[in-house]
Amino acid sequence: MAASDNGTLLAVENLVVEYPVGNKTVYAVSDVSLHVDRGETLGLVGESGCGKSTLGRAVLQLRRPTAGTVTFDGIDLTKLEGEALRRMRRRLQLIFQDPIASLNPRRRIGDIVAEPLVITGVTDRDERDLRVRAVLTAVGLDPDLTMSRLPHEFSGGQCQRICIARALILEPELVICDEPVSALDVSIRAQILNLLEDMKRRYGLTLLFIAHDLAVVKAVSDRIAVMYLGRLCEIGPTEQIFTHPAHPYTALLLDAIPVPDPSVKPAANVPIGEPPSPIAPPSGCRFRTRCPRADQRCADQVPALREISPGQLAACHHPLGVAN
Ligand SMILES: Nc1ncnc2c1ncn2[C@@H]1O[C@H](COP(=O)(O)OP(=O)(O)OP(=O)(O)O)[C@@H](O)[C@H]1O
Ligand code: SF4
Ligand SMILES: [Mg+2]
Repeated sequence: MAASDNGTLLAVENLVVEYPVGNKTVYAVSDVSLHVDRGETLGLVGESGCGKSTLGRAVLQLRRPTAGTVTFDGIDLTKLEGEALRRMRRRLQLIFQDPIASLNPRRRIGDIVAEPLVITGVTDRDERDLRVRAVLTAVGLDPDLTMSRLPHEFSGGQCQRICIARALILEPELVICDEPVSALDVSIRAQILNLLEDMKRRYGLTLLFIAHDLAVVKAVSDRIAVMYLGRLCEIGPTEQIFTHPAHPYTALLLDAIPVPDPSVKPAANVPIGEPPSPIAPPSGCRFRTRCPRADQRCADQVPALREISPGQLAACHHPLGVAN
């Protein structure tokens, strides 16, 4: 797995996450390998239910993987337990989609943001106060007007700022942003995306940025990974993914990005219908039931991820722009 000059901070290798449901199995994440370099933002996109959140939670060991490894700064998190895992988890944080739901409605903002400090044993109240004030100021909130109030007194955008403050207070190295702007009004999405960029620079963060669609991740990602029904389809530099997608699913996602001009009709070849059930994924390439290029080989063989151009890998028997 290639590492950049900055070195790999997170490496996910052959990750499998399966959920037993009754006597069936949900194949949520199947044999996914990817890495994120220090200081990099990797965008992770795909339709609802393709396994993005499951992958994020498995990285943090909030859901233990069925198989595979998650190596963070050289340490395999899947092997850690108890206090050793808790200590490592401080270095990785998660920001959720629904900021209001992820804040305890009965606790004051000052206490909510200070909670990770309490949990990690910062007993000095003055020190906690100073750190809460500093991080609230960093996310654009006035501590004097914020700390003694309750979550319902804030807008969705302000609540997401509070969630970001809570995620940053332990000065993590990796932040997994799971659709951090999806639940927000379009008008404030750009503000939160800009805030995350500012925080990334200020705190030297590495980001795994999860979103439904390519348009949201384009502005913030150095590289983009595309998932479909539990598998990684394509990964590569943002510019290359947008200008020369190799996987037919990536190309269809790009076609599905709405164009602001109402006279331009949506593309006719966006993915049709619902994806198949992750309880019974198609044989071979999981995208074959919706792929315009599918043939018998696609039904018979799982396509391996292979390099298409420098740094761009795709899992497809008949990649776009490549002679087969
Ligand atoms: N606890 C669980 N038990 C059983 N199945 C689950 C569980 N959590 C998720 N799943 C299933 O695993 C698959 C992947 O879900 P996941 O939430 O990771 O997808 P996602 O890409 O994050 O979707 P969304 O974009 O809607 O957030 C889905 O089919 C989902 O229904
Ligand atoms: S392997 Fe076949 S079905 Fe899958 S994306 Fe490529 S062409 Fe389509
Ligand atoms: Mg999700």
